[in-house]
Amino acid sequence: MYKRSHSCGELRKSDIGQLVNLNGWVNTVRLHGKVVFVDLRDRYGKTQVVFDTESFLGDFEAVKKLSMEDVLSIQGTLRDRDEAAVNPKMDTGEIEVVVSEYFLLNEASPLPFVLSDRNSAEEDLRLKYRYLELRIEDLQKNLLIRHETYQATRTYLSENDFVEVETPVLMKSTPEGARDYLVPSRIHPGKFFALPQSPQIYKQILMISGLDRYFQIVKCFRDEDLRADRQPEFTQIDVEMSFVDEEDVFSHMEGLTRHIFKTVRDINLPDPFPRLTYAEAMETYGSDKPDLRFKLTLKDIKFFSDTSEFNAFKSTETVKGFVVLGGAKYSRKIIDELTEFAKKYKAKGLAWMKGENDGLTGGISKFFSDDLQKEMCEKLGISNDDILFMIGDNKMTTLTALGALRSEIARRENLAGTGVFKPVWVTDFPMFEHDQDKDRYIAMHHPFTAPREDDIEKLESDPSNALSRGYDLTLNGHEIAGGSIRIHSPQVQEKVFSILGLSHEEAVEKFGFLVEALSYGAPPHGGIAFGFDRLVMVLAGTENIRDVIAFPKTTSAASLMDASPSSVSRQQLDELGIQLKEKPGN
Ligand code: AMO
Repeated sequence: MYKRSHSCGELRKSDIGQLVNLNGWVNTVRLHGKVVFVDLRDRYGKTQVVFDTESFLGDFEAVKKLSMEDVLSIQGTLRDRDEAAVNPKMDTGEIEVVVSEYFLLNEASPLPFVLSDRNSAEEDLRLKYRYLELRIEDLQKNLLIRHETYQATRTYLSENDFVEVETPVLMKSTPEGARDYLVPSRIHPGKFFALPQSPQIYKQILMISGLDRYFQIVKCFRDEDLRADRQPEFTQIDVEMSFVDEEDVFSHMEGLTRHIFKTVRDINLPDPFPRLTYAEAMETYGSDKPDLRFKLTLKDIKFFSDTSEFNAFKSTETVKGFVVLGGAKYSRKIIDELTEFAKKYKAKGLAWMKGENDGLTGGISKFFSDDLQKEMCEKLGISNDDILFMIGDNKMTTLTALGALRSEIARRENLAGTGVFKPVWVTDFPMFEHDQDKDRYIAMHHPFTAPREDDIEKLESDPSNALSRGYDLTLNGHEIAGGSIRIHSPQVQEKVFSILGLSHEEAVEKFGFLVEALSYGAPPHGGIAFGFDRLVMVLAGTENIRDVIAFPKTTSAASLMDASPSSVSRQQLDELGIQLKEKPGN
């Protein structure tokens, strides 16, 4: 092997005449009679190398057999390309290396899929051969963006007095939302550690210990249903601060986010970030992570539908809708597709009317008098060629179905555009959600989130309407961070546990150490955690979280490359004192 003199992305016209050594993978091979062209590739780029029978003294027949992904080491002289052969799309497109000698360092087996085209293979096959897929430029670029995001995060937080502290990966199982991944203890048979869903409790304890400002780029584990932006193990930028209120957290985290976007992508985010309350976000966008890159805002239609002859909406709690500009072009087929889409979000149907001749037509328009139609066009901003979509149902179903439809239409119409970044804080979340099936309250964020000062009384009298000091940072429709000002009084903490149905004994068993720690001089504190992978997704411009993780799990929480999870030996189970209930696979 030749020691490389340059990378495959480095050589330019100014280097012409030099004797150079390059190492890399065969990206493409083109045979042209007495000349073979190879694009040699490494992380830094590609360079065309030429084997020409006139100057190449080795075995030309062997060169002709080179194939994609073989590993080569070449020595040769750099020369200008013929004008006609210049490739303006390649950084090295003006030059080529005329090979004098080479080593075939490793021959590649026939490839399971074409590396130049990710769409040529199903994702499962690509994940099985992830090491090959990671050779693709797009994925390497994503990993570099991820790398730069780590560096920018550490620089900003460290310069602002945040201390990086590692917290345990083996911890106590605590009921925190998702299911835990459990780890059996060999030394304590029958006992288990859990992998952290987040370092929430440790970071609060670090505040009680006086660390003042903490951060950690940390792996979290949640055994939950997966989606396009969820993984069972994912990374957080975890932050906690003492003696702070919401404004302090917002200003530091905006600073961090702006710094990351500027450093990694040279993008200037707004200063300050806009804010919406949870109620505003739901009413206006039908989502607690609203995408502000497009309008399609929800309007109240209840008054109009109640005034009309359309009876189906009269008994419903809420009727809302939105106008799609130019949407009158939608065919019956498209409207049917959108109706099916809304039904996935529990809507019973999707009502519509199109703007025409300064009135409304089609759909349910015949139930609306001419005057009412005119009034609606005026008040709701419906012009000719627009379409109004409406849903009537209980409030939550109406809002969430319309919110999802809003995003779907924006996706179909490409309304978000590219290169637009719209962060927004969402604040004033309810403290609790009511789980209808189990008839109990669950914490909307987590059980350590403080209620708003004004709402402490409501914890007793009206928990459903108590608002919290929780907040999310959302960006282009993704929840990229979530956090809260914490409870630092043991009494309020116990009250919240009791609303969540944890008896005093259970609370002590599960979280006793935290409650006890709170009684030894806990400063007021608060924090936040960024979904690091989601942040990198937005920076890299992808909608798939697996595109920004080197070795991701599938949507069924498996790793196809190393075939895990997998069975373990009887001996391992015996050592752990574990007996399987039934044979795996039965
Ligand atoms: P939360 O549960 O909101 O808060 O998580 C913080 C952020 O982590 C990201 N995230 C995920 N990313 C990928 N895959 C997942 N399965 C996943 N789950 C969450 C989201 C989310 O906004 N301890 C608290 C934070 C705090 O209160 O300070 C917590 O973990 O982007």
